[in-house]
Amino acid sequence: MANKSKFQAIKGTRDLLPPETALWNRVEQTAREVFGTFGFGEIRLPLFEPTELFSRSIGLDTDVVSKEMYSWVDNAVPRLGSLADVVISWPDPIQTEDQFSAYKRYVSDFVKELERAIDSDELPKSPVNKQALQDVKEKFETLSQASVDMPEGKKLAGECVKAIRLAVRFAELGDYLTLRPEATASVCRAYIEHSLQQLPQPVKLYYIGPMFRRERPQKGRYRQFYQIGAEVLGGQDAPGVDAEVIEMLMTFFDKLDLEGIELDINSIGHNFPSCRPAYVELLRAELTKVRDQLGPDSQRRIDTNPLRVLDSKVESEQAIIATLPHIADHLCPECAAHYAAVKQQLQLRGVIYRENWRLVRGLDYYTRTTFEITAQGLGSQNAVCGGGRYDGLVELLGGAPTRAIGFAIGEDRLILSLQQQARASATASEAAAGASRVTLPSSLDVYIAWMGEHAYATAVRAAKDLRQAGFSVELPPTELKFGKALSHADKLSAKFALILGDNEVSEGLWTLKTLADGTQQKLPEPALIEHLRNSLGPL
Ligand code: HAM
Repeated sequence: MANKSKFQAIKGTRDLLPPETALWNRVEQTAREVFGTFGFGEIRLPLFEPTELFSRSIGLDTDVVSKEMYSWVDNAVPRLGSLADVVISWPDPIQTEDQFSAYKRYVSDFVKELERAIDSDELPKSPVNKQALQDVKEKFETLSQASVDMPEGKKLAGECVKAIRLAVRFAELGDYLTLRPEATASVCRAYIEHSLQQLPQPVKLYYIGPMFRRERPQKGRYRQFYQIGAEVLGGQDAPGVDAEVIEMLMTFFDKLDLEGIELDINSIGHNFPSCRPAYVELLRAELTKVRDQLGPDSQRRIDTNPLRVLDSKVESEQAIIATLPHIADHLCPECAAHYAAVKQQLQLRGVIYRENWRLVRGLDYYTRTTFEITAQGLGSQNAVCGGGRYDGLVELLGGAPTRAIGFAIGEDRLILSLQQQARASATASEAAAGASRVTLPSSLDVYIAWMGEHAYATAVRAAKDLRQAGFSVELPPTELKFGKALSHADKLSAKFALILGDNEVSEGLWTLKTLADGTQQKLPEPALIEHLRNSLGPL
């Protein structure tokens, strides 16, 4: 029976364990190598940033910002933060005199503490904070005169509680922070913060690490997931840049031998000054005509962001969406030429793509080229990579106008797809060989089975030498009978067992057992490493 602890990984998060982590490392190492050959350097970014960085970049009406971010107030004055929590979450309506007195005490403490923090500059003397203080004070005075014994008093107290809650919510009690749901915004922030536009352009950066989105967990969708991303900032928006970024991605997937991936591309035009706004208006007009045939999300998006309706997976909306105008027919001449040239550049590089006019992506910062890659064996969450151009984002965040393009690979999904592929091919070859069990290749080269005090000292020395030569070695810390040690070596799927007893040590001839076939041979100590190298191949 599995051990049950009262602590378990939070829903949507998971532990990655060996041997699976070896695959993660291989994937990450391959990314580093491939991206390095295209001139990318690694950037390591904070896991949390100001909330506004994401809301401004990704867009308020996106799923990510409107419902999936892990955000909190990093209270500058912790006591004030706790008082605010109590005041905001106090049960309403207040029923008894005792509750009423306790509530008033908390509000009065909050007012005193807020006043003190603003006076001592622990909190900013901002108009928002001054207003919040004034509002809470005013309502507190009214509240103090109310009595919850009488229905009118109760009603008045209820109104005051609501007003106080609102005012406290508005106070700036600390920084609003968010666990990063993606890293493009952070890369742009870093590009501006470190004046990277002064370096030779473009600047090519890649990152690997966890992202956080409060999505409904399912296969391939987690609340903490990992991305391998790359961004090209600055320089020109030459179509060759777009094509080379995509070529790099395909080279990466190729190096991993990932089969059956499909690349979709699109152009969604430019935000300003030209084609996208006119297309969005046309789309809005067309969608308005069929508004009552659409579901609530799409209806809302007609007003907030009609492009996102194209993203809809709702079955009943598909036939309607199929009749909508295509953006490709409404691109301005510059964007149309850019898109045509990107396709030509992809062909030049032998990259196979499919055009998908509905590929608008779920984040607001994209301009012109967008792309997505789907992989096999993932069910509904089959997008293994998404990206595109975002020529306006650096400027939106306060930097100079900067061309930029990038992508992020969902590492969890990539690993799932690789595992699925490995399982499928293992099953096929097992079936061909008539075997019944899939075994994992062992990562343990040598298990040292030792008995006797002299033998232990030799075993420690042998382990050190073998490890320095690059072999993986398991050395049991306490003496085991040889039979037990060898069965332990078997369980660990070691390739060899080095048997060291007092005889071996005094003779200077060590016994090496090949665990796959049970054969054994005596080797003089100096020949051991050479023999293992020849048997195991280059490390
Ligand atoms: P995205 O499409 O939101 O784009 O995410 C990129 C990839 O991350 C997805 O294709 C998917 O493989 C993976 N992913 C997203 N959410 C989850 C999740 N909850 N669980 C598992 N995997 C997930 C971006 O993040 C952009 N920043 C990409 C980009 C970079 N565009 C330009 N530069």
